[in-house]
Amino acid sequence: MKNVFDYQTEWSGLQNRMARMFDPDSGRTVLLAVDHGYFQGAPAGLINLRETVTPLLPYCDAISPAIGGLKTSLDPKTRTPIILRATGGNSMRRPDELDDEVVTVSVEEMVRCNAIGFTVSCYIGLPGQCQTIESLASLSDEAHRFGLISIGITAVGADPVLTKFVKGEREDGGELTADDKKEAVRYLKHACRVVSENGADIVKTYYCDGFEEVVEACLSPIVIAGGTKRPTKEALEFTFNAIKAGAVGVDMGRNIFQNEHPVAMIQAVRAVVHEDKSVKEAFQLYEEISKG
Ligand code: 5RP
Repeated sequence: MKNVFDYQTEWSGLQNRMARMFDPDSGRTVLLAVDHGYFQGAPAGLINLRETVTPLLPYCDAISPAIGGLKTSLDPKTRTPIILRATGGNSMRRPDELDDEVVTVSVEEMVRCNAIGFTVSCYIGLPGQCQTIESLASLSDEAHRFGLISIGITAVGADPVLTKFVKGEREDGGELTADDKKEAVRYLKHACRVVSENGADIVKTYYCDGFEEVVEACLSPIVIAGGTKRPTKEALEFTFNAIKAGAVGVDMGRNIFQNEHPVAMIQAVRAVVHEDKSVKEAFQLYEEISKG
C-alpha cells in the first residue's frame, strides 16, 4: 500500500546548509569566530588572520569571518563552511556607539562568497535595538529566499551593566553577586527570545549560571560565544556547562585563537561539544596535544 506522504516532495537548502554546519551524530557545532576586527580593529591573536586561521580550519565545523578577513585571508579552496558577519558601522574608537550597527553585507555578496549563512548583532535594551533587530529581520527575510542560515547575536555593546555578564566579573573585578547572576538570566532570556522571534534560525549568546532557563525561553537553537579570554580550564568548564544546559555548540573566538595553544584548545572544545567529554578529559587532551 502506498501513502502519498511517504514520498519526498521538496528539498530544503536551509536544512542542507545546517547539515554542513552541524555534526550529524552530535547535532552540534564548533564555529570559529574570527570577525572581531570589524569593530575591534586588530585584536590580539588576529593580527595575521591567515596565520591564525589556517592551522585551525581542519578543526572547525564552520568559520565566521567578516568580509575583509574572508577575501584577504581564507583560502578559497577551503571546504569549511563560511558564516559571514553581515553588520558593522561601529568601532571601539567610539565605544559608546557600538550599538549603532547597520547592515554592511548584502545577501547577494553572501551568495557570491558562497557563505552558508550570516551573523547580525542585536543590541537588546540599548538605543540601537530597533535598527539592529530590523537588520536581523530584513536580512533573514531576504536570505531565507536563498536558504541561507540567519544567526542573531545578543550583543552587549559597551553597557557596563551587561558587559559584567560576559566577563563574568563586576566592573571593579569583583565576583558576580547572586543578584547579578539572576539579572544575567533575566536579560539573556529576554534578549534570546526577542532575537529568535525576529527571524534568527540560530541565536548566539553568552553562557550564564541558570542557562537552562535561557535555552527554554528561546525559540531557536543556541550556540555560545566565548567572550573575553579566560583560563583554559575555565573556558572548557563554561563550554561543558553550556552544552549540558542545552546549547547546540559554540561560536567561539578569543578563547581559541588567544589561547597559548589554539590548535590544542579547539580540539579540546570539540571533545566537549561532540564527544561529551568531561572538563577533566578535555583538559587532559589539551595538555597532551599542547605538549605533543
Ligand atoms: C564579536 C562577535 C564574536 O563573533 C563573538 O563574540 C564570538 O567571539 P568570542 O568567543 O571571542 O566572544 O560577535 O565580534
